[in-house]
Amino acid sequence: MKLLHTERLTLRPWREDDAPTLFALGSEPSIGLNAGWSPIRDIENARDVIESVLSNDFTYAMTLRESDELVGCIALKPVAESVLSLVHKGQIAGLETDELDNLDQTREIGYWLGVPYQGRGLMQEAAEAILRYAFEGLSAPGVWALHEASNRKSERVMEKLGMDGVGMLSHVHMSLLPGEVFWDEHVHFIGRSRWMKNNRIS
Ligand SMILES: CC(C)(COP(=O)(O)OP(=O)(O)OC[C@H]1O[C@@H](n2cnc3c(N)ncnc32)[C@H](O)[C@@H]1OP(=O)(O)O)[C@@H](O)C(=O)NCCC(=O)NCCS
Repeated sequence: MKLLHTERLTLRPWREDDAPTLFALGSEPSIGLNAGWSPIRDIENARDVIESVLSNDFTYAMTLRESDELVGCIALKPVAESVLSLVHKGQIAGLETDELDNLDQTREIGYWLGVPYQGRGLMQEAAEAILRYAFEGLSAPGVWALHEASNRKSERVMEKLGMDGVGMLSHVHMSLLPGEVFWDEHVHFIGRSRWMKNNRIS
């Protein structure tokens, strides 16, 4: 995994010793319940999540450069089949030819930020760096992002990244949430040419 730096953040791989902080931040119910997973139960559970979910080459721990504090998480994962099937069914409009031809190389971002660190623009800063890496480092043709229909805070992050709302996934079973929970998810997208234009890259 390539380390990414921004003005205030370092994005690095998750480590086993992040477990106490993951528990402290991820046990707050509003984090997981808005991101699609159950709140972290204890430090042992945090260790398991780090090992089985967060330790891969596309999920970054977000840390403050100044203090090395762990503040949140951002991932740039391979695009989900459910999103691709929307495109194949013609339920996503407006993609350009090069984006349609290389759909399997598009990526999907997902993120959360600990409550004490929200409202400072940190997620926007991290997500801008991740998009730059996706387009310049990985040459991805496009990047997707999904949020539960009423998650306005997450939608704001996507809007400020220049992503467009392009479709909707209805009645998605959230297998990591307790009980039988189904979400309607809004689907956002930004293509490479749009990102380059927004960033004045020719
Ligand atoms: C979604 C989530 C990451 C958004 O966090 P956030 O703190 O609102 O996002 P940012 O870090 O980009 O901060 C944005 C806010 O910081 C404020 N801000 C303060 N200083 C700032 C600065 N220097 N630069 C930019 N914004 C700044 C802005 O006013 C902005 O709010 P606004 O867009 O309403 O004006 C957070 O709410 C979260 O983790 N929620 C739970 C999990 C979740 O929903 N994940 C997404 C699943 S799809």
